[in-house]
Amino acid sequence: MCGIVAYIGKKQAYPILINGLKRLEYRGYDSAGIAIQNGTLNVYKCKGKVNDLIKHAQSKNLEGTIGMGHTRWATHGKPDDINAHPHQSGNGRLVIIHNGIIENYAVLKETLIKAGHTFTSQTDTEVLIHLIEELQSQGNLPVEEAVRAALAKVVGAYAIVVMDREDPNKLVAARKASPLVLGIGQDEFHIASDATPLVEHTNNVVYLNDGEIAVVTRDGEMQIKTIDNKVQTPFIQELDLKIEEMEKGGYEHFMLKEIYEQPKTIAECMRGRLNAGEGWIRVGGLATCMERISNADRLIIAACGTSWHAGLVAEYLFEELARIPVEVEYASELRYRNPIIGKKDVVIAISQSGETADTLSALELAKDKGALLYGIVNSVGSSIARITDAGSYIHVGPEIGVASTKAFTGQVTLLSMMAIHLGYRKGTIPKTYYQTLVEEMENIPNKVAKILESSKKIEYIASEIKDANNALFLGRGYNFPIALEGALKLKEISYIHAEGYPAAEMKHGPIALIDENMPVIVIATNKSAYEKIVSNIQEVKARKGVVIAIVTEGESVISKIADYTIEIPDTEEPLTPLLSVIPLQILSYHVALMRGCNVDQPRNLAKSVTVE
Ligand code: F6R
Repeated sequence: MCGIVAYIGKKQAYPILINGLKRLEYRGYDSAGIAIQNGTLNVYKCKGKVNDLIKHAQSKNLEGTIGMGHTRWATHGKPDDINAHPHQSGNGRLVIIHNGIIENYAVLKETLIKAGHTFTSQTDTEVLIHLIEELQSQGNLPVEEAVRAALAKVVGAYAIVVMDREDPNKLVAARKASPLVLGIGQDEFHIASDATPLVEHTNNVVYLNDGEIAVVTRDGEMQIKTIDNKVQTPFIQELDLKIEEMEKGGYEHFMLKEIYEQPKTIAECMRGRLNAGEGWIRVGGLATCMERISNADRLIIAACGTSWHAGLVAEYLFEELARIPVEVEYASELRYRNPIIGKKDVVIAISQSGETADTLSALELAKDKGALLYGIVNSVGSSIARITDAGSYIHVGPEIGVASTKAFTGQVTLLSMMAIHLGYRKGTIPKTYYQTLVEEMENIPNKVAKILESSKKIEYIASEIKDANNALFLGRGYNFPIALEGALKLKEISYIHAEGYPAAEMKHGPIALIDENMPVIVIATNKSAYEKIVSNIQEVKARKGVVIAIVTEGESVISKIADYTIEIPDTEEPLTPLLSVIPLQILSYHVALMRGCNVDQPRNLAKSVTVE
């Protein structure tokens, strides 16, 4: 949430900053801005996207080899030119970009107003730069000391970069609960919210830890200290990212590219962890905590959004295959309801970005209560990956489309392997079934590829429902979380109101909504409770609902009742979610496109939700 990029070195900063902002735009696109120093400190910012900023900055003075850029997801203050970052101190000397929320900004603002400061924006960020200014001028401090003194007074979350007109050879960066990465180049430093803008400049990065302040200088110095002034030794890591992974690769949208990548990304997630020829699954991250997880009183899964849906699939998987009780929690609710978590519980956090603030907070709470923390994460080196005791990366590559697709199937692939691995180790699934599941998992990428081939039919169905105002998604068992995920995908990118329900729950309320204008998408691939699903579909048809059924290839009963059917290949029931979600992703994509929506950057949303 909010993209931060900064540069100091010998090259012109502007093209580096703009390119970096384009890479980070998926983190927020309410407004964009840059500040560049070249004797004078020039700030250009405006409402809208990076392309609007480029137009706005055209023919302005863009000279300078030190600067910073920001793309905003609004928290305090509406998205407009004034609230856009960077923000300047009252004396115009200091400039800041910020991701996060300063929770005590109102109290600080009041004190600063009494001290004579005036504010132009509604943001918490402007308060912070005025506070830094106040402390700098009171103590005649160098910028990094003023930043340190100010952060000691701040409550909240931040990743910031600060630049001082009077000290033009230095950038100061700090983080608490919002990510920040330093890139170490040849005679230059880069700073960014995540590694995506860095990869074309350097492979050497340092992930700042919470409570650290970094100072990077034009002559190649990098110093990291804690807020209480203890010098830290930077841990330089090598990036494992490729530029191609961050480009659209010929697709019209990142979301489409990411949908189509899934045969490859699912296979990538299984690589080295599954061998059907030899008949085994081994999830490396489990090795260090196998006993603790096998004997856990409970697995508590904490996640948000699509990752929470992957957690719901895991509840079915772990309970059925490994007979371990599972609770799936919205991370935001777990954090704030004084939950009962003990030392024999294992908390599994699922997160694509590894930076979701609610999930991170839930983990911190669970850590305090002594639970083992296991992370299932995509972004390597992210905060969740670092705070957990053990974990597994899903290895699906950067996900740029705001609507999560390949991360979901990566998460479910990983969770399926974990449940099968644990089930076999615990003896809760027989060897023959274990081997069937192992073999079937290996077939999943080809089966996903086959579904992708039927996208023309799904596109046609999209054209039939694109004008609906509401939609209902129904599924049972393993397909219930997929109904939720289908509804989330549709609503977030096409702005059609959509709800997901367990199919049997429909008669307890939602059935009242059904009429001839209501598309009802039924995921009906289940072998168990098949007749019950057929009855649910009959109930919808009896009320003139338009039924779109996702069925298993060769199915002949539902296909006759439903208005439209989408066939997917047969698989073992616990693995169905990996297939049944694919048509729903394609359907949402096409509906959104036909409604003229911005598929990759849906309104009000941002990737990587780093505020609580
Ligand atoms: C929906 C979507 C969000 C995320 C949620 C959690 O398509 O992308 O619901 O799933 O914000 O994000 P992560 O997985 O990064 O913790």
